[in-house]
Amino acid sequence: MPILTGHARLAGILGWPAAHSRSPRLHGLWLERHGIDGAYVPLPVRPERFAAAVRALADLGFRGANVTLPHKEAAFAACDTVAASARRAGAVNTLVFHEDGRIEGSNTDGYGFLESLREQVPSWRADAGPAVLLGAGGSARAVAAALLDAGCPRLTLVNRTPARAAALARALGGPVEVAERAAPLEDAALLVNATSLGMRGQPPLEIALAPLPAGAVVADLVYVPLETPLLAAARARGLAAADGLGMLLHQARPGFAAWFGAAPRVDAELRAFVAADIPRHAADGAAAPAAQGLGRGA
Ligand SMILES: NC(=O)c1ccc[n+]([C@@H]2O[C@H](COP(=O)([O-])OP(=O)(O)OC[C@H]3O[C@@H](n4cnc5c(N)ncnc54)[C@H](OP(=O)(O)O)[C@@H]3O)[C@@H](O)[C@H]2O)c1
Repeated sequence: MPILTGHARLAGILGWPAAHSRSPRLHGLWLERHGIDGAYVPLPVRPERFAAAVRALADLGFRGANVTLPHKEAAFAACDTVAASARRAGAVNTLVFHEDGRIEGSNTDGYGFLESLREQVPSWRADAGPAVLLGAGGSARAVAAALLDAGCPRLTLVNRTPARAAALARALGGPVEVAERAAPLEDAALLVNATSLGMRGQPPLEIALAPLPAGAVVADLVYVPLETPLLAAARARGLAAADGLGMLLHQARPGFAAWFGAAPRVDAELRAFVAADIPRHAADGAAAPAAQGLGRGA
């Protein structure tokens, strides 16, 4: 840990819990690289104390904070101004506390997703063809908005609770449809998992990738484990695949720049440093739950 001065810049991550977050590790490496007099700390806050905690952090001189589950929607309400990215995503994951007392919110999840995809699959283009997005939760909304805004010609949402997907499609507008059962993969240029299936401790996602065209790209938002069963299946079929760790790293860049005044880099060293704290495979040190499709009771 560096020795801080009285001028140290402070930021952190608001969550409940916050102990699992890799963000302190990630921002910590950037702070060290840039030689910044500052710290990024975990900020565990109960949901009922969230609004008061945000005001208190601003009063204490924090520059801002990231926001994770379950606070992303409450953070939207706590802001004085919200960027278009947050309005589109319906949630805030990055808070900036301005000197005039104003609290500004934005959502960098969609940006992080696109940047990660472009980095991991350089040939990928948003307008290459239709995309299929599994999930209709908070991260699905941010990713869906980013894909549409980047020029995705058609987006199909598939979710365990179809009504949630239908509500999301209405909120997004544009070329979005809902598939209630099997995901329509035959002409998909991109398949994205934005459900929590495949995450360590959750059942793996069961989906047959055989109908995907040979040029399709598969992306998973889940990054614990790094190599989800979905990504492994995609790679085994020779498909290009992008993991969720890249999104985590890239979504953090705008916040760091705003709070600490330096533009941080995502590179192999950073990736390896953060990855060292994450199991590579689901079975590494844990019993695997039964596989599950998207339908209830499937
Ligand atoms: N890489 C990154 O930087 C990044 C950023 C954000 C999130 N994530 C990851 O993305 C995933 C989703 O996060 P979120 O914030 O969007 O969560 P969320 O708002 O709670 O949404 C969870 C989604 O998963 C679905 N789901 C959960 N359990 C399921 C099951 N047993 N069977 C079928 N579907 C199930 C839900 O379907 P229902 O609507 O039917 O409940 C919903 O669509 C998590 O694994 C999270 O770690 C990664």
